[in-house]
Amino acid sequence: MTPVHARIRSTGHCVPERVLTNQDLERMVTTSDEWIRDRTGIERRHIVSPGETNLDLCEKAARSALAAAGLEASDLDLILVATTTPNQVFPNMGVLLQERLGGHGYPCTSLEAACAGFIYGLAVANSLIQTGQAHRALVVGGETLSRITDYTDRSTCILFGDGAGAVILEAASEPGILSTHIHADGAYKDLLYYPSGISQGFDRLRESVDFIQMKGSEVFRVAVNTLSHLALETLEKAGVGCADLSWFVPHQANLRIIQAITRKLGLPLERVVLTIAEHGNTSTASIPMALDVAVRDGRIQRGQLLLFEAFGGGFTWGSALVRY
Ligand code: UT7
Repeated sequence: MTPVHARIRSTGHCVPERVLTNQDLERMVTTSDEWIRDRTGIERRHIVSPGETNLDLCEKAARSALAAAGLEASDLDLILVATTTPNQVFPNMGVLLQERLGGHGYPCTSLEAACAGFIYGLAVANSLIQTGQAHRALVVGGETLSRITDYTDRSTCILFGDGAGAVILEAASEPGILSTHIHADGAYKDLLYYPSGISQGFDRLRESVDFIQMKGSEVFRVAVNTLSHLALETLEKAGVGCADLSWFVPHQANLRIIQAITRKLGLPLERVVLTIAEHGNTSTASIPMALDVAVRDGRIQRGQLLLFEAFGGGFTWGSALVRY
């Protein structure tokens, strides 16, 4: 039997219209445009307006990916939405998105793996396609982190933005997703987290609104080491070198993290897709958003070799090597 592979058929993304600039943040906390650009590479981020939700962003990103492929929702047979900021606890975001798009019957769910969620989604969809359980999957990363960001905490509020990115994966005779590598280590759970959850009861939520908690410099250090090793391991297992890579599409958490990784890899920054200046850190949405930007502006071309990598709260981390 011919082996089944999965390949990326199309991409899409969406950012909210509302923009929060570094100058806006200078008026909200003790910070400066210069500090934020120097320490993170971020110039602005998009955030949702009152009433606008993650599902709205996911729907726009998904419709854009469907349109790029000339497909309808009825052509899909799987939806996975990676997010930590779902519209509601259940139905899950995949089902809510299916209802918006107008599909019926096929499996839909959400995945929660913080900033690495999109890579987890890609790994799951790839496996389901390879084992014949799905033929065409919509994988979305979507976040509204502005809803859980403390805009009085200068160490976190300068980082995060909102947005959604989507890819359509489909069965193919030639490999597109060459490999995926996903990992987690709960020993680091206290370095980056959001404290509230339904199972803890509602008293805590009634008392005050909780926000993202992060020990930034410790996260930074582990992220650089872990992602550098993972990149080398991913390339080595595939028998390719950095020189074979057309584009590195990393999670956009901090420009300095990306620069440190590329230095360790010996990869020129010209071969990295960077959207952090415009989008900030959009967690699980950042890779599919960056991918779509570079596909649409013509940098990423069919046949090129791409490396995706992400790291986030948990810690969770992962990579994917992709022949686009
Ligand atoms: O998305 C997945 C995971 N998340 C990440 O990967 C984020 C990883 N961490 C980071 O990106 C960086 O650690 C930050 C951007 C959050 C912080 O940068 P840093 O270079 O690690 O700064 P720091 O936390 O070591 O703080 C250095 C100084 C401190 O002042 P003192 O104690 O040296 O006087 C902070 O109070 O910078 C101060 N500081 C600020 N100053 C101006 C912290 N935030 C700000 C700010 N503006 N917004």
